[in-house]
Amino acid sequence: MKIMKANKRGELQREISLIEEMLSTATVRYREVTKQHLALRGSKRKAHKTRLQEAKDYVWELEKRLARAKCDALKLELAERRQGVVHQSKLCKDLARLEARYAKLLSRLDHDEWLELTRSVWPFKDTESTAKTGLHPAQFSAVIPYRTIKMYSYVDEIVLDPFVGTGTTLLEARKLGRHSIGLDINPEFLELARQRLEHETLVEQATGNGSESRAFEQLSFLEARRRYVVDGSHLRDYEPVIRLDDARKMQTVEDNAVDLIVTHPPYWNAVQISELDDDLSNVGDDQYEYFLNEMGKVFDQFRRVLKPDRVAVIVIGDVMRKVNGTTQLFTIHSDFIQMMKERGFVTWDIFIWETKIRKSGGKPLMGSYPYPHKLFSQFAHNYVLVFRKLRGI
Ligand SMILES: C[S@@+](CC[C@H](N)C(=O)[O-])C[C@H]1O[C@@H](n2cnc3c(N)ncnc32)[C@H](O)[C@@H]1O
Repeated sequence: MKIMKANKRGELQREISLIEEMLSTATVRYREVTKQHLALRGSKRKAHKTRLQEAKDYVWELEKRLARAKCDALKLELAERRQGVVHQSKLCKDLARLEARYAKLLSRLDHDEWLELTRSVWPFKDTESTAKTGLHPAQFSAVIPYRTIKMYSYVDEIVLDPFVGTGTTLLEARKLGRHSIGLDINPEFLELARQRLEHETLVEQATGNGSESRAFEQLSFLEARRRYVVDGSHLRDYEPVIRLDDARKMQTVEDNAVDLIVTHPPYWNAVQISELDDDLSNVGDDQYEYFLNEMGKVFDQFRRVLKPDRVAVIVIGDVMRKVNGTTQLFTIHSDFIQMMKERGFVTWDIFIWETKIRKSGGKPLMGSYPYPHKLFSQFAHNYVLVFRKLRGI
């Protein structure tokens, strides 16, 4: 047994030395290619871009391999328990630091992805629903949690969706190597979320996706322009937690426990989802203030459960309604911004998610069609609001 461990240690040490050597050569090469790239102009520079990208990706790949191998070596050393308590505790600290570095490397966005994600309008062609399950009356695109999880969290962190419905956020979080928690007051949706998660696990495992590769090796989802980090055989390492819980209370979530919130709450009563008393979409046209008040309780919980300096993403759209005889736009997105500010969040960013034309509940509003001067717009966008919780609130 001892000999086997010594052999394994030796093997790992050799692997580490080899990767270090390769990394040093690759870094020199990357610097040279960068220099050449900067010296080029116009179409020549454009044509050279792929070489630059390849050199950069190779360095990144080696950095990941090195961090992984060093983690494995430290784990082995810890398992041997040959050292005194002080040394053990130092090893634990080193391991935590290295694992954080590895998670960070895995979470890195490449240049094209960065450009795509940080554009403030997310066009319909990129976000068309990939979650056309027909299971939930409120349409949601898997691309929204995919993008926001990538933008605002690291691998191995915890994502919460307190209005989880059929679990789209959880499905994306799991493939991206994030732990996740989903809450909803509707047991039927939670059951559907469970079934979707189970179905996807079986499909991924049956297709044998990367069954021999490590959990985190990057899969090539370039065709779909999505890059996940967990293969089919390791999805269970990130099995989401699903709970029947009211977003206004979040009784099952501890204080300062989550790294990111991504959620898609009811748009007031634009789509009445159920007749359950606790369903925040189950309110009348004359109850907008009540809806906001209840959402305020949800945002109080955001503040409680989110770690300081981290982000809450809210996907929402405005609603046109005739109330007390006057038709008007209820700008839910701006009310939410105000309410989040009152709770100590700063508005970090706003993305416009271009959608198909979305009815504002009921029939489309025509106004004075086809004549001026009382026309209404057809909603073809939603908002992706990004808030950051300030430290010390
Ligand atoms: C717009 S849908 C979310 C759909 C989800 N993005 C999906 O992928 O299916 C809003 C969800 O909020 C839930 N909901 C309504 N009131 C709630 C409350 N008080 N607490 C938790 N969930 C609630 C509804 O049951 C519904 O599933």
